[in-house]
Amino acid sequence: MNSETESLKEEVLRCTKCELAKTRNHVIFGEGNLNGGIFIIGEAPGRDEDLQGRPFVGLSGQLLDKILAACGFTRSEHVFISNIVKCRPPGNRVPTPHEAAVCMPWLLKQIELINPKILILLGATALKYMAGPEYRITRERGNWLNLNSRLAMPVYHPAALLRDPSLKRDTWEDFKKIVYKYRELVNPNHYSAHV
Ligand code: URA
Ligand code: SF4
Ligand code: URA
Repeated sequence: MNSETESLKEEVLRCTKCELAKTRNHVIFGEGNLNGGIFIIGEAPGRDEDLQGRPFVGLSGQLLDKILAACGFTRSEHVFISNIVKCRPPGNRVPTPHEAAVCMPWLLKQIELINPKILILLGATALKYMAGPEYRITRERGNWLNLNSRLAMPVYHPAALLRDPSLKRDTWEDFKKIVYKYRELVNPNHYSAHV
């Protein structure tokens, strides 16, 4: 990480701005390549993430990594992954609007420093807080959004795919659009065995 991101990380790891600080084991800053061109935004750390201090390491994370691999993307080279809130909500409940609002400045600062070409919004919560409360994942997924001049693709959350595997078909179409855009904006020679 560069020094600006390192100092932001140090600050976020000490954060106690909301009540989730009281029950967390780890603050999950996020991980991946700062220069990969893609920033993936999830909802909140779950149990596995809270124990390990890393984003998307449970079942949802394993599915996310499989989808990324099918696109030819890895955490180490192409994407940075973080969440709307950086601490686990007890029992994996959805973060409250207050928690999301208090935590959002950290995410916005990360996006500003990393300056990705493409945002991927994983699921209803990421879409709601990045685009607005009126946005619905079932309606918006697969359509590029323009968020402050940055392209954002809303897709179903991997947890939704685990609950309803029939959503995987649409999700693969959405990720193909992301690979095409990545070739257009970041690397025309990006290799993916499947796209
Ligand atoms: N679900 C999320 O939204 N984020 C994680 O980091 C893990 C599971
Ligand atoms: Fe701070 Fe965000 Fe954790 Fe709340 S969830 S304590 S705002 S880092
Ligand atoms: N419901 C959710 O909460 N997220 C999705 O991605 C799809 C349905």
